[in-house]
Formats: sequence, C-alpha cells, structure tokens
Amino acid sequence: MFTVYSLNQWNTPADALVIGLYKGSRDQQFFYSDLNEQMKGFLEECVQDGDISDDYKKVSVVHTLKLVKPKRLYVVGLGHKKHMTLQKLRKAFGTLFKQIQEDGRTDISIALDSFKTDQAEEAPMAEVLAEAQQLATYRLADYKTSNRKSESHIEHIRVLTEKPADQIESSLQIGKAFGTGANTARHLVHMPGNMLTATELANFAKELAEKYDFDIEILEKEDMERLGMGALLAVNQGSVEPPKMIVLKYQGTEKWENAVGLVGKGITFDTGGYSIKTKDGIVGMKTDMGGAASVLGAMETIGILKPKKNVVAVIPSTDNMISGSAFKPDDVITSFGGKTIEVRNTDAEGRLALADAIVYAKHHRAETIIDVATLTGGVVVALGDWVTGSMTNNDELYNKVKQASQYTDEPIWQLPYLDVYQEQVRKSDIADLNNSPGRKAHPIMAGAFLGEFAEDTPWVHLDIAGTAVSEQPYDLGPKGPTGVMARTLARFVLETDE
Ligand code: BES
Ligand code: MN
Ligand code: ZN
Repeated sequence: MFTVYSLNQWNTPADALVIGLYKGSRDQQFFYSDLNEQMKGFLEECVQDGDISDDYKKVSVVHTLKLVKPKRLYVVGLGHKKHMTLQKLRKAFGTLFKQIQEDGRTDISIALDSFKTDQAEEAPMAEVLAEAQQLATYRLADYKTSNRKSESHIEHIRVLTEKPADQIESSLQIGKAFGTGANTARHLVHMPGNMLTATELANFAKELAEKYDFDIEILEKEDMERLGMGALLAVNQGSVEPPKMIVLKYQGTEKWENAVGLVGKGITFDTGGYSIKTKDGIVGMKTDMGGAASVLGAMETIGILKPKKNVVAVIPSTDNMISGSAFKPDDVITSFGGKTIEVRNTDAEGRLALADAIVYAKHHRAETIIDVATLTGGVVVALGDWVTGSMTNNDELYNKVKQASQYTDEPIWQLPYLDVYQEQVRKSDIADLNNSPGRKAHPIMAGAFLGEFAEDTPWVHLDIAGTAVSEQPYDLGPKGPTGVMARTLARFVLETDE
C-alpha cells in the first residue's frame, strides 16, 4: 500500500496530491513555493480567497485543472506550527484519510515533509501517518443481507520525502503494525456474544499463535478444577459454554526474564448473573472482553515487530450467565492460590476472573503485570469516554505505562490505591476478601481487589469501561470499538527497557 519516493517525484499522475499547510509565512514552508509555481500561482490565490484553509484539521480540496499531474490537491490545515505535536498530527492524518476514503480516492501522493514540525522528525511522522491510515479507515463488519453500498479502499499511497527511503519505510511498517493490532482489538470487541464465545476467543488466540509463532496454552475447565481456579470457575458456573484460560507467550530474548504479564478481562457477555443488570444496562455487554481484545491486539503488534522482550498474555474467558447452577451472592469461593472470597455481587465478576489470571501470570514468571478490563461503570461516571482509569502499586512502572499512553494519545488517569481501600476489600465475616464493598468508590474497590492478587509484583491496572467503545465517529475511527490500550501496551513493551 505504501511506497516511498523522493520528493522531487511528486509530479506524477494520482487521484490526489496531499500537502500540509501551517499558518504563517507560506513562502518559507516546505515545498509550497515549488508547487505554487507549478500551479501558476493558483495555490496562493486559493489560500488568499479562502478556498484553502490553514486551520487545524480542516481539509480543503481543489482541482488542479491539468496544471500538474495529480488530479486534485488536498491541503490539510495544520494551525500554528508551535502548537503542533505528534499526537495532533496523528489526528490530522486521521481526518485526512477519512476524507480521502469518503471521496473514493484510491491512489494518492503525500508530501510528508510539508507536515514537518519542530516537535517531530520525518520518521515518527511516517509512523503516525501509517497508523492513522489504518485506524481511521477501518470499517467494522456487519451481518446485513441487503445490498451493501460499494465501498472504496485506498490502494496506493506514495509517501514523498527527502529523507532516506529505508528509514521512512521502516517507520511506515511500525505505524501499520500498531494500527493493525488496534484494529484486531476492535474486530474482536465488535463480535456478538453468540459468535465470540470463550471457545472462539481461544481459537482466535490459536490463530495468532500460529501466525506469529507464539507459544500457546489453553487451560480447559478440567485443568482449572485441578489447579483450583475457583474464581473464574464460579463466574462460569451458570453457563453452558466452557471457560478458557488463554495463555500466549512471546519470547524475544535468549532467557525467559523480565517478562511482562498482560492480563485482559475476557467476559464474552456479562448479564450480571443473579445480581442481574437492567434491561438497558445489559445491552452492549458483548464488549466485556475489551481487555482481552486489547491484549490480543498488542500481541499482534508485538508478533509483527518482534522486539527483544518477553511477554506473557493471560486471558480468563467465559460469559457470566444465570441458571440453576450459577453462582450466587453469599457464596464463598476459593481462588487460584488459595485466597477465599465472599461473593456479594455476581456482577462484580471481572475482578474474580482476573484474580485467577493475575496469579497465573505470576506462575508464568511475569515480573510486571498490567491488567486491562472493562471493569466498572463507575469509571465511566468519573472519567468519561476518553480517559482510562488506572491504579498501581509501583510508581516506576506506572510512569513507564503513562509515557507509552502519552505517546499513543490514549490518556490514563490515576486513581488512589490507599490502605483505606485495601481495608475495605479485606472486610468479610466469612472469607479473606469480598468482591464488592458497595457503591462508594467502586472503580477503586475493583482495582484494590486485583491488587490483593498482584501482591508485591509491580502492577498497573487499566479500567477501560469508558474508553473501549466510542459512541460517535472520531478522528481515528468509526463509532464503536476503539481498540484502546492495544497500542499503549505494545508501545510499552517495545519502548520500555527494564
Ligand atoms: N462489565 C461491567 C462494567 C461495565 C459497565 C463495562 C458499563 C462497560 C460499561 C462490570 O462487570 C460490572 O458489572 N461492574 C459493576 C460493579 C459493581 C457490581 C460493583 C458496575 O460497574 O456496576
Ligand atoms: Mn459485571
Ligand atoms: Zn463485566
């Protein structure tokens, strides 16, 4: 899809030539004067007449009337150069590619160097370009039987630059790998619960393992019974679908050391169990495997880019159903490793499934653990749709995750992990822990519960209940699953040195 050419080859036939335009003196902007000259001054005239805008994220389209070989000129407004960041550039590229796709352009050239900012070199720019292209043009599958309107795909993107082609090419590949991983996560989250059962999620993981040569282990119900994974088993108790504990291992160094454990909540549908959800609250609960999807998406990026790191992904998967055999409030269960739990609320099932998975990640010698989960409605109330709630027992690890999230522009915000919260999850007349101390601070209670299982292992908890799905289309994607944290986890693994 992408090919890199030297900038002086810009004047070749294409549906469109794309340039970036900052506010301020245009004649000093890269490539602007050359192009304006070739267009007999019409470019400048269009800008002066207001047919082309330099406002941030505004995309203007003008026909080139055979003055140059590309049929149209797409100008991406970039605002003031001093305000430009790599993150803002990614969004601007997203807007651009959405527009190009909508207009049905399939063959474009883009003058990468015209987007240059003081904050970023061409290489990271190429990376976010490819990433934005993958993310913004992604289309979700559907099962409509009526004629679908024919949809165009961008087939060829020539990236024009004065930088060495091999360097830009490898950046484009990296960006594409990040976009691909996030889209994998989106694809999984979008699948309905009747199609994406725990068994199907495990099958998907098997395919990933084959494709990228990961080690894979799938624990069956009998294995869990033998190992004493009573928490995940309790959540599964009311279901006719067997549970799966999915483990993928990527070993990038000689020895299995400093392994990062990525743990993702894989509840394929959450009815709430006997603490049943309302008829409105239950709709959308197919997305309750969003954490698992992020982890698998990150594994895909890792599988493509093959860093010299070690990663173990652990995904506890089941649906949370009601039947004569389902678990109930007041039940006492024994989790993997022996801690007992008083069940107060069967709708606080994610933390139960994750508890066994976190302990299992430690059995696979994960030395740091990051869990990702659509864990609480409360985090949506607190932080909204675009900020992921986070907790940690280790500031050093937290800062690295935070850095990765700043780079990928998937913001996280830290919630307090204090003794007073720990005391409350330990309060039970009958067991070591209780799974739901009540309404107050419940996103924190959920995290604090998981902290009991991470124990001394450096751990970061990410609650994506608000961020896993977008209610409207946005710069980098359609309405629906966002694939949030797939990129951040992959970035963390790729960029963090132990
Ligand atoms: N899967 C839900 C959380 C959720 C809510 C995700 C809305 C996405 C959108 C989770 O299992 C849940 O039910 N949490 C309860 C916790 C409560 C019982 C302590 C909640 O948030 O109400
Ligand atoms: Mn629930
Ligand atoms: Zn849930």
